[in-house]
Amino acid sequence: MLKVAVMVSGGGTNLQAILDAVADGKITNAQIVKVISNSRKAYALERATVAGIPSECVTRRDYPEEKQFQEALLRALQESGADLVVLAGCLVVIPQNVVDAYPNRIINIHPALIPSFCGTGYYGLGVHEAVLARGVKVTGATVHFVDSGTDTGPIILQKAVEVLDDDTPETLQRRVMEQAEWKLLPQAIDLIANDCLEVVDGRVRFRKDR
Ligand code: GRF
Repeated sequence: MLKVAVMVSGGGTNLQAILDAVADGKITNAQIVKVISNSRKAYALERATVAGIPSECVTRRDYPEEKQFQEALLRALQESGADLVVLAGCLVVIPQNVVDAYPNRIINIHPALIPSFCGTGYYGLGVHEAVLARGVKVTGATVHFVDSGTDTGPIILQKAVEVLDDDTPETLQRRVMEQAEWKLLPQAIDLIANDCLEVVDGRVRFRKDR
């Protein structure tokens, strides 16, 4: 049974997609053991409470030094017993001590088709604003392993979403979440929980079909 800790920052719609997928059997062999938020105001914490999942807030402003925050975050993850850390709408840059402790065991959902519209400064609505400004006709979402870079780790799954002529950043963000993010993240967790993939020479390979 894969133990999963989910890190959140906001509304928690990606967390909810994971919780729903566990409940309806789309994710097997996995248990969500902890939700960690960097914001006390995150509605994702409410979603965890309703689902009966332990949660806590580890926020930088509670610590006088960055190093103490980083140690507290690592401690919270290790104490949860998680084998996999899932960044679900998480806006915290994951510190190196955590990346080192969980090699190819942290996954992130990015709301674009990496390597497009990713890297420093590309998060949230800004990603979709850049997509519309560039005029691309297809965007989407990517689930990838987290390494020491920003959106640079091995890609696990991607899903394309059409950009419509009358899209606003908000309508596009919603469609990317509905059609891509909320499907890809649960699917990636299920693949990992059932030992269906491996990383070879920096690229994800699938061992067996689900
Ligand atoms: C959205 O900006 C989405 O594109 C990105 O995280 C935000 C959703 O957060 N992946 P949440 O899962 O609703 O908290």
